[in-house]
Amino acid sequence: INQGNGVKGLSEPGLKALPKQYVQPLEERVCMTNIVPQGSIPIIDMSNWEDPNLAKSICDVASEWGFFQIVNHDVPVEVLENVKYATYNFFRLPAEVKNKYSKEHSSSNNEALEWKDYLSLFYVSEEEASALWHSICREQVLDYMKKSKVVIKQLLQVLMKGLNVNEIDEAKESLLMGSMRTNLNYYPKCPNPELTVGVGRHSDVSTLTILLQDEIGGLFVRGNKGDDWIHVPPIKGSLVINVGDALQIMSNGRYRSAEHRVVANGSKNRISVPIFVNPRPVDMIGPLPELVANGEKPIYKQVLYSDYVKHFFRKAHDGKKTVEFAE
Ligand code: SIN
Ligand code: FE2
Repeated sequence: INQGNGVKGLSEPGLKALPKQYVQPLEERVCMTNIVPQGSIPIIDMSNWEDPNLAKSICDVASEWGFFQIVNHDVPVEVLENVKYATYNFFRLPAEVKNKYSKEHSSSNNEALEWKDYLSLFYVSEEEASALWHSICREQVLDYMKKSKVVIKQLLQVLMKGLNVNEIDEAKESLLMGSMRTNLNYYPKCPNPELTVGVGRHSDVSTLTILLQDEIGGLFVRGNKGDDWIHVPPIKGSLVINVGDALQIMSNGRYRSAEHRVVANGSKNRISVPIFVNPRPVDMIGPLPELVANGEKPIYKQVLYSDYVKHFFRKAHDGKKTVEFAE
């Protein structure tokens, strides 16, 4: 198959059948009977920031679900709209241009490919972004990251307090959010959505992920009780927050990184823009010393974060399997 213009290039000429490389094994397809149609992940209103109950609900939700949406946060809706349009615009660029900026087309080493194109932007500095990022999305992504960082800091402060870690000093801030990556995801419409996936089951390797999705929907989270997959409905102006493996490990299992996946869509193109808030590649991550000092038994060992990430990418998406690397 001609992969020159990614999955978008396959989808657009009016493809009749899914190329066989994208056919997922039966157990990886989304079985709609396990979907809980009325289920919903928690929605947290950030406007009552001073309310002590808010802090408690964030910590509870991070332990029980590891997945929630925030509304009335401080990231302006124009910033979100701008980054959404920048994403559409990037993927509309000619293939030769896009290919210069994105090296791969499918994100995993799965035997079957995922029905998705993406651009990954690792933030090092404004200078580097100016030099390496395409101008069609650079300012929009930088603005989105800058504004989101404030919200991420607020959330991490609350989550740390919930672990009785009352101060985020410079070292801890660097450990929790020392590096950031933004992906622009484009999921073209698909001729046989039931045979493939947009993204296979996985949990993120981040500390926290903050995700903007458009109005199409298709993101599902595995519920905390058993095998149900719960839809994350698009809410205009909201952001989806999820706990990643790094925070699960640092919190010694108190906060939970949730498994999630994206279905393919038979009639519409979808975009999403996650920011992965990560430790730095050179950091050792493990249960925080404050927890272990309290006599808690560490359930994870210390691992080098870059090794953890390497382990995640070395194999097919397989739910929450990566975290076993730190056990
Ligand atoms: C992902 O988890 O990799 C993508 C989530 C989404 O597109 O909604
Ligand atoms: Fe994810």
